[in-house]
Amino acid sequence: MEVIILLGEKDVGYAAAKRIGKVITSRTEPVLGLATGGSPTGTYRELVRMHQQEGLDFSRVRTFNLDEYLGLDPSHPASYCHFMRTNLFDHVNLRPRSAVVPSGMVVGQEIESYCEKYEEEIRQAGGIDLQLLGIGSDGHIGFNEPGSSLTSRTRIKNLTKRTREDNARYFSNPDEIPHHVITMGIGTIMEAREIVLIAFGKAKAAAIAAAVEGPITTSCPASILQMHPNAKVIVDEAAASLLQRAEYYRWVFDNKPDWQKDR
Ligand code: PGA
Repeated sequence: MEVIILLGEKDVGYAAAKRIGKVITSRTEPVLGLATGGSPTGTYRELVRMHQQEGLDFSRVRTFNLDEYLGLDPSHPASYCHFMRTNLFDHVNLRPRSAVVPSGMVVGQEIESYCEKYEEEIRQAGGIDLQLLGIGSDGHIGFNEPGSSLTSRTRIKNLTKRTREDNARYFSNPDEIPHHVITMGIGTIMEAREIVLIAFGKAKAAAIAAAVEGPITTSCPASILQMHPNAKVIVDEAAASLLQRAEYYRWVFDNKPDWQKDR
């Protein structure tokens, strides 16, 4: 796991976008795993800028989103489908059917087969080249809440009280916040060839410390990234503030050999 500590939120967004841009330009059929929430908005803003000003081409890119609330129509302003359209999809040249967000409108017994199909679609696309992740204040990745199996696949999950509270800001009425979601599993996420987890702000410091330096445990789902062969954790100073080995990570980053610099 490579830990990159940058000054502030903007730097985190730029660094993640730069890495994603590299994957897009270096592969013939790039496949991205995308995240929603407050963490990736700066990354998407920078990707849109790179598309508009530098010609970053999304026409060969396929994307799969991590998760979606069950019961929210795609046009609902708090749905992740709506989030992705307004933050990225509507502003770059992705082909319409190449950008997939799990449906929040599947119900009952359809859900299981829908999740299997989602996994199959990712496999058919050749697997995910780069998965972008945020982290919940409880250590979740996607909507894999603490206690989730570390080998889980795409499935329905129940949100914790804490996650519903964290996400209440996106809803006008707290009663509207769904209890159920569809999320890629931790096993699904771990199959991505590269993972970039981003976080900023003091509220994420404890989760980052647990994920990077704590034991690998279902109590902090993000801790499984310690087992991934190519995972980067890009954080600002505030989110890094509880890391015991921060000085070491900074030294490693500052002394990276030239041949590793754009990886
Ligand atoms: P946030 O959420 O980016 O809105 O903080 C991250 C997450 O829940 O994974």
